[in-house]
Amino acid sequence: MESRAWWRGRRALDETMRKVPLTESLRIIGRGTRNWLAERPLVVSFEVTDACTCYCKHCDHGGPRDESRNLRAHEYGRYMEALRPCVVQISGGEPLMRPDITEIVRNVQCGGGIPYTILVSNWSLMTERLYLELRAAGVDQFSVSLDFPDERHDQFRVHPGLYAHLEGLIPKLAALGHDDIVLNSCITRENVGEINAIADKARAWGVNLCYSAYSARRTGCRDYLPGTPDELATLNRELDRVEGRRDATNWIVNAPSTLAATRRYFERASAPGCTAGLRFLVVTADGALQPCSMQFGKYRLEDRERMVEEFSRGNSCDECYVSIRSYLDKTFPQLLRENVREFLAVKAR
Ligand SMILES: C[S@@+](CC[C@H](N)C(=O)[O-])C[C@H]1O[C@@H](n2cnc3c(N)ncnc32)[C@H](O)[C@@H]1O
Ligand code: SF4
Ligand code: SF4
Repeated sequence: MESRAWWRGRRALDETMRKVPLTESLRIIGRGTRNWLAERPLVVSFEVTDACTCYCKHCDHGGPRDESRNLRAHEYGRYMEALRPCVVQISGGEPLMRPDITEIVRNVQCGGGIPYTILVSNWSLMTERLYLELRAAGVDQFSVSLDFPDERHDQFRVHPGLYAHLEGLIPKLAALGHDDIVLNSCITRENVGEINAIADKARAWGVNLCYSAYSARRTGCRDYLPGTPDELATLNRELDRVEGRRDATNWIVNAPSTLAATRRYFERASAPGCTAGLRFLVVTADGALQPCSMQFGKYRLEDRERMVEEFSRGNSCDECYVSIRSYLDKTFPQLLRENVREFLAVKAR
């Protein structure tokens, strides 16, 4: 089984435009394969702070929080040894608010290019110097949130000047040629008509693009969930056009099956079959394990298997189709094929 999976992964690497060195890609796939078989998480999201520089309309974070109990940078190594994920997301709250963010990135590296490390941020505090420092520390992919292709982004995020900052910085850093910046656009009722305008912006700035889907579970607010026949027609029209804009550079990072599942999620307002806690999990700022960022049962690192038994095995929650889920709601061969394409085809060295 393992060798067949490796072979498929290798073939997928050959089929795609590969931007992560082959040896690193194979190491990542190897670790993913072992984790799949051992029922360890493939992706771990470290929410390194609950505080944020924005007050987004669709999110439950926002503004300052008590940070006194945050894990310290050196403590992340213990989580990496126990969980051994092949992909790590460093997120929040706003992760760049941590003055020791570079040190955190260093502490989640295991050597040899693993894990594949994604920094998920609003970039309000990003500078050229910090970008280069974080790359050197081990960030493979910079996921930058963008909800609108203009100053409406500032209104949605309640952060004046944010769009102008991104517009100044992103094309400049993209021109360095590292091909590791991915705009991350969460589709909501407010921006469903802007899906291609956001893609235009990604093209103009010379970066990649990944779509995600709004969930009402985070805030309890259904106002941002597109669901009327008109909105669903707009969604389908916009995503049809996106499908036609793919090319060999993989700048649309979502696999076609992921965008198809995103359409189904909005049509049905549900997405069953979630593997939270088992295939992916969240480590909160103070070091607890949670199945996902919207399920708040907390477990100690030592109690991961209990979390799987108590939560994951019987989980019937179907209330989101956020990125971390969409990477992993697949059969194993499909997962290998598509995640090689989605993750590993993003970075050039
Ligand atoms: C929680 S934020 C944390 C990282 C960083 N502050 C940022 O905004 O990129 C990570 C991603 O979650 C998305 N998000 C926030 N609220 C959401 C919701 N209710 N449903 C789906 N995605 C959401 C954001 O748009 C962002 O792209
Ligand atoms: S989406 Fe990100 S930037 Fe916006 S409030 Fe939530 S954590 Fe902060
Ligand atoms: S569907 Fe899964 S990832 Fe989404 S909120 Fe429910 S348990 Fe969490």
